[in-house]
Amino acid sequence: MKISINEASKKLLQGEVVAVPTETVYGLAARFEHLDGIYKIFQLKKRPQDNPLIVHVGNKGQVGELVESCPPGYEDLIAAFWPGPLTLIFPIAKAIVPDVARAGLPSVAIRMPSHPQMLALLAASGPLVAPSANLSGRPSATCAAHVEEDFGHEFPVVDGGICRMGLESTILHWEENGGWRIARHGAVSAESLSQIISLSPVMIEKEKPLCPGQKHRHYSPKCTLIAGFEEYAGDEACVVGYSDRKYHGASQILALGASSRPDEIASKLYATLRLLDARKVKCAWVDCRLPPFDAYQAIADRLKRACQN
Ligand code: TXA
Ligand code: MG
Repeated sequence: MKISINEASKKLLQGEVVAVPTETVYGLAARFEHLDGIYKIFQLKKRPQDNPLIVHVGNKGQVGELVESCPPGYEDLIAAFWPGPLTLIFPIAKAIVPDVARAGLPSVAIRMPSHPQMLALLAASGPLVAPSANLSGRPSATCAAHVEEDFGHEFPVVDGGICRMGLESTILHWEENGGWRIARHGAVSAESLSQIISLSPVMIEKEKPLCPGQKHRHYSPKCTLIAGFEEYAGDEACVVGYSDRKYHGASQILALGASSRPDEIASKLYATLRLLDARKVKCAWVDCRLPPFDAYQAIADRLKRACQN
């Protein structure tokens, strides 16, 4: 059910949950200090309790109200990337953001989104916790119809159109001894971050993930996805691929865009994964052959995780 920013703000102030647009993906929002709303988010998404939420702020000054101190390089990072798709994890000593929203961690993740409707809502409601607006483990939502697919037509959503980027924010983690590390690849590339701060090497897969969410199943449609093309033999298979590549023998090809256009691929990614289920496709091959740099890194990360279903 589409609602206005005014209606959304009223609901949020009463402790309710509403879906909101951001430039990355839609979020399921509640006021950061409303425990009822926070519990409701976990319940609605069927989200594991050990997976913390990102706090969204409407201006840079609000960070000082949520954390005691900022890591080195913080000023340069937010000058370069906020408002925008970069989330920073701040170590904290006091529980200003409730424990349950942080999954009990001694840190809090914060970002300032750039979507104009989200900024208007944040100005009216104050900081909001918001995970992506999808059932846990499922592909994220990049338009209001996706939110309704997962939570029903009666669920309140501020319709901000199709998300411009279509990929979640990049999450940066800072450690006294380790420096800055990417905890989740996303809409800001490692290359553009490296122009502002020095990045420590990306974590080894087997290490404990810096984001608890990374250990859970993610982005997966019901359709069984197979990554890699070593064994692909055509055979009337469904393929998720690129408009400039050939897939001999495929029964249907869902093109994410041209392989040279990562922005296009990112913006179509989740809609395409959802389309597989809408078309009741049982099994599909996913062409994960992408270069290991720039925006491709986050896309390859999502595709590979979606295939682990
Ligand atoms: O673009 C985005 O980031 C979207 C939009 C709605 O802002 N949000 C989003 O939220 O992707 P979610 O909940 O789907 O993913 C947040 C990730 C999870 O993997 C979670 O574990 C991690 O952020 N996270 C949150 N707080 C953290 C913390 N204190 N320490 C480490 N990881 C944290
Ligand atoms: Mg998510």
